[in-house]
Amino acid sequence: MRRSLKDAKILVTGGSSGIGRALCLKLVERGAHVLATARREDRLEALRQECQNGPGTLHVLAGDLSQSSHRLAISKWIGEHWQSLDILINNAGAGAIGRFDQADEQRLRQVMEVNFFAPAELTRECLSWLRAARGSGRKPAILNIGSVLAHRAVPLKTEYCAAKFAMRGWSESLRVELATESIDVLMLSPSTTKSEFFDSLVQSPEGIKSPSVGSMTSEQVADAAISVLVRSKRERILSWGGRLLVWAGRFFPNVTDRLLRRFAIPKAQR
Ligand SMILES: NC(=O)c1ccc[n+]([C@@H]2O[C@H](COP(=O)([O-])OP(=O)(O)OC[C@H]3O[C@@H](n4cnc5c(N)ncnc54)[C@H](OP(=O)(O)O)[C@@H]3O)[C@@H](O)[C@H]2O)c1
Repeated sequence: MRRSLKDAKILVTGGSSGIGRALCLKLVERGAHVLATARREDRLEALRQECQNGPGTLHVLAGDLSQSSHRLAISKWIGEHWQSLDILINNAGAGAIGRFDQADEQRLRQVMEVNFFAPAELTRECLSWLRAARGSGRKPAILNIGSVLAHRAVPLKTEYCAAKFAMRGWSESLRVELATESIDVLMLSPSTTKSEFFDSLVQSPEGIKSPSVGSMTSEQVADAAISVLVRSKRERILSWGGRLLVWAGRFFPNVTDRLLRRFAIPKAQR
């Protein structure tokens, strides 16, 4: 059965830019009621104004998702305003680039915190609200925005790949646990996307570039996320390039390692 987004109550993390922002706009266009969260309050406020004419509604709540106090504040907001939640979209995330041996523990912890612990703990916090939505005739869903790098890791992004692999493993396990409760756990894995992602890197050396051949736009990824939600697709990997990398890594791991060593690490970093 196709999931209707009209009048659905949806929480979107990372709504201040890129994929999350595009998703909020498209969901409101479809008549959904969206709570957008991120740290930059001015960005969220601008988004709220952009959505003022509906047909859906957009609410905003600024804060740092890696803080349990903000996750609790989100849950409290839902309790006060909605009393249930149809869809949780764990989209907020941040990357880091550079050799593992040249970084420190803090970078690893920061990347794991925002890409893995925060969405996992936010989900725990929201589960009672998702359960409360079941009586409305809608099937609740959790949509995790992963990455192609949750399926095949690449060099110079060790922390990010580890965090996205963790998210994928956690999603797979949670999907089975929540199936008996009729709550979907879905995952969309984008490949390189035009957004502010590479301008907001965690503790990465200056001047390091990540190849962004054949990037998708945030709007295209948001459309794919909506399609995953509407069709309850358990996992989708985006772009032909992304799928090729995953396929090559699975069937020809040694060749893929060699190609990555040659083409994904600049000479100065080898
Ligand atoms: N861009 C890509 O190439 C790419 C590829 C594959 C997967 N992805 C995934 O797609 C998702 C969205 O990324 P994007 O490309 O749209 O990047 P983006 O434009 O940088 O957006 C990231 C969003 O996450 C929010 N965020 C980051 N840290 C946060 C924190 N501690 N607390 C609350 N919010 C936080 C940011 O808001 P504030 O800064 O205002 O807090 C922003 O709204 C991420 O999970 C990313 O890993 C991206």
